[in-house]
Amino acid sequence: MRTMDYREAVEELYAEAAAEPMPVLCCTQTPAWKLPGLELPQAMLDRNYGCGTTVHPRDLADVSRVLYVGVGAGMEALQFAYFVRRPSGVIAIDTVPAMLDTARELLAEAATTNEWFDPSFVDLRRGDALELPVEDASIGLAAQNCLFNIFTREHLGRALSEIHRVLEPHGKLVLSDPVASRPMPAHLAADDSLRAACLSGALPLDEYLGALVEAGFGTVEVRGRRPYRLLDKRRYGLDEDLLLESVEVVAIKDPIPDDGPCIFTGRTAIYVGEEESFDDGRGHFMLRDLPLGVCDKTSAALAALGRDDLFLSEPTWHYTGDGCC
Ligand SMILES: C[S@@+](CC[C@H](N)C(=O)[O-])C[C@H]1O[C@@H](n2cnc3c(N)ncnc32)[C@H](O)[C@@H]1O
Repeated sequence: MRTMDYREAVEELYAEAAAEPMPVLCCTQTPAWKLPGLELPQAMLDRNYGCGTTVHPRDLADVSRVLYVGVGAGMEALQFAYFVRRPSGVIAIDTVPAMLDTARELLAEAATTNEWFDPSFVDLRRGDALELPVEDASIGLAAQNCLFNIFTREHLGRALSEIHRVLEPHGKLVLSDPVASRPMPAHLAADDSLRAACLSGALPLDEYLGALVEAGFGTVEVRGRRPYRLLDKRRYGLDEDLLLESVEVVAIKDPIPDDGPCIFTGRTAIYVGEEESFDDGRGHFMLRDLPLGVCDKTSAALAALGRDDLFLSEPTWHYTGDGCC
């Protein structure tokens, strides 16, 4: 186990991963977006160090400036630029100079095969997620893929507060990160090399979502959840295997309601009673037989009514918007 500050391990690892593709870090099961006229350089695909995707066309209809934190080799910055298409439409930040050089080189290469793309669309900046070189309330959508899980809990709180600061009201933060099926054992959490490689900084999902609420995000949506890695008991010195899952989550800079945040985990309510519709008197109106996505708070309140004509599902972890609140 290495004992230097974990941030030194991070800088060292990603300088190497910029120079040469590091297959062990290429962990995504999500296929890279194929879109009309979008050609991703192979060297960019080989350095895809994310664990999901943060790019969703439906988030980008009204967004004129995207902030991408931890740019890596630039694949998602290029994908965001595809939708935003204007100079400095994507501000992309990284702490590692070699990674920024690689991203610059590969974005220049992308300009030769993507006629719509100009490298000026991506404003590459050396900067730190913990102290963003970005103005307050100037960003419509921020994204990070497989970076925030690396941070200690204290640094995660700082990074989320920074994103909250730079987002416009109702702006979105899209995240893709590993989460742990139980709290990370201390000997793994203290291992800087494993943390840098996105293997031992992961929090349990409820703590991860709690950190978003603590930073001030009033609406949180879990869009996807799938197996990512198994920390097996033999190799990692554990009593039991520990599953890591990768989650895709969106946090929206809405005020936190007085009765608590709206956290959508893919729960659905269906009213099947004798009336044509059901109104709970708290803003939730359901037509008979039609499904309504509900947040965890609303689902709990509906369950507390004890009605036998209201079906409430378990989370599917695939919420995609347009729910109750
Ligand atoms: C796991 S890689 C993910 C790269 C990219 N998001 C992707 O999906 O391929 C993490 C990236 O964050 C960068 N990074 C590490 N610490 C950072 C920090 N404190 N602030 C900004 N970027 C950081 C690394 O240099 C690396 O490029």
